[in-house]
Amino acid sequence: MSGFFLKPPVFFASVLVPATSVIGLQWGDEAKGKIVDILTERHDIVVRYQGGNNAGHTVKFDGRTYKLSLLPTGILQSHVKSVIAPGVVVNPLALLKELDGLIAGSHDCSSRLMVSDRAHVICPWHLLEEAALEKSRGSSAIGTTMRGIGTCYRDKVGRSHAVRVGDLICRDTFAAKVKEIVPFKQKILNALDPDGPQMNCDEIIAEYSTAADRVRPMVADTTTYLLDALDAGKWLLFEGAQGSLLDVDHGTFPYVTSSNSSGCGIHNGSGVPERAIVKMIGVAKAYTTRVGGGPFPSELDNEIGQRIRIAGNEFGTVTGRPRRCGWFDAVATRYSARISGVDSITIALLDVLSGFDELFVCEAYDIRGQVTRTLPSRCEDLAAAKPVLRRVPGWQEDITGITEFSKLPESAQQYCRAIEEIVQKPIEFVSVGPDRSQTIRMS
Ligand code: GDP
Ligand code: IMO
Ligand code: MG
Repeated sequence: MSGFFLKPPVFFASVLVPATSVIGLQWGDEAKGKIVDILTERHDIVVRYQGGNNAGHTVKFDGRTYKLSLLPTGILQSHVKSVIAPGVVVNPLALLKELDGLIAGSHDCSSRLMVSDRAHVICPWHLLEEAALEKSRGSSAIGTTMRGIGTCYRDKVGRSHAVRVGDLICRDTFAAKVKEIVPFKQKILNALDPDGPQMNCDEIIAEYSTAADRVRPMVADTTTYLLDALDAGKWLLFEGAQGSLLDVDHGTFPYVTSSNSSGCGIHNGSGVPERAIVKMIGVAKAYTTRVGGGPFPSELDNEIGQRIRIAGNEFGTVTGRPRRCGWFDAVATRYSARISGVDSITIALLDVLSGFDELFVCEAYDIRGQVTRTLPSRCEDLAAAKPVLRRVPGWQEDITGITEFSKLPESAQQYCRAIEEIVQKPIEFVSVGPDRSQTIRMS
């Protein structure tokens, strides 16, 4: 017993190592990429642990704009290792295309990237199946990014037709899997649409094996790597994709993505235990946006929403689709902050709201006469929710050059404080423009 206490406290050493995560508190596109980029400077490793190339994270500095999809945002900084962990679904063709884009922009970074051998592979049939599924839903389509994300996760959970990165880089295993899976999938696709595309096993094997040759040097047991890094005192930063309201278990199901995109996904997606994450920052826009289908109680399907869309350039990073815009939904954001247990919040794109005479924050829902401050589980109830709005005066000034909270117009400060009060989490950053420098850090 005494020997136990005399041992170096390895377990506690891991707990005390700074490991921070950044997650979205809305329906995605909250400016997570910008905040991850700012925090990357002080970290050694940046980890993507869920989602895939459905994400689109934008980073701006030195007059340049970078759009990252499957690659962790840390890839842009040379002192950092970037990790794609087991919970991510990887399209190897998309991965290489993105890397090649960065190399063309003179960021040769493949040597700083590690891809988990446990991560699952998005294959051509996943994209075909998703197209068929979305078509079959008609007007209730989820409005997915059409990247084969959900169908790949479905096969992972179903186990029978799953392909992992470890299989992809083993030529014989991969070829055998393609020959087993394609005839099965093709039968289903043909039954749905006899005139639809026909897959060719040899072509798939050739294309993916060529890609695998390039991916192979990046493949590793990232779980052991991350756990060892923690023990060695390295600083880890976990980059969430999508937003908590798109979480498959806790979001606005079925209008969600197929992974745990709230804070709940960090541990199962990365293999790093929950107790090692010492800080979680939730990012929310100063208003709300959503891409694709699904209920959105504070949506402004009118000229105000259009004004926000134009001012905030609210068009999808991945698909270019116009994002639906609405008032800040504090009910949904508070729910997200609570389920993830965030320590602090970031309010982003506050500058977009300059010039409004008055602003509104949704502080409760009226669902068929019942007022509630919690997010209902059923989509039908959320679709019936009417926002109970709190009015906050607007401000006219351009705030894009302000770097201190106290220098913001009084009503902009009041607006942020109203959000803080309803969401019940302290504000850590306020973002007033897309560039790294346009960020207020609360002291
Ligand atoms: P992510 O998916 O959460 O990383 O967010 P996206 O990159 O998809 O969308 C956020 C968009 O807002 C990007 O175009 C950013 O460049 C931009 N952006 C980030 N912060 C701010 C801000 O404070 N103000 C403005 N006007 N734009 C911002
Ligand atoms: P980032 O990381 C916003 C949405 C899609 C669709 C739903 C399911 O940039 O915040 P999927 O292709 O994942 O099966 O689509 O989820 N969606 C996002 N919306 N930002 C994202 O990522 C998203 N990733 C998926 O529009 O409604
Ligand atoms: Mg995005």
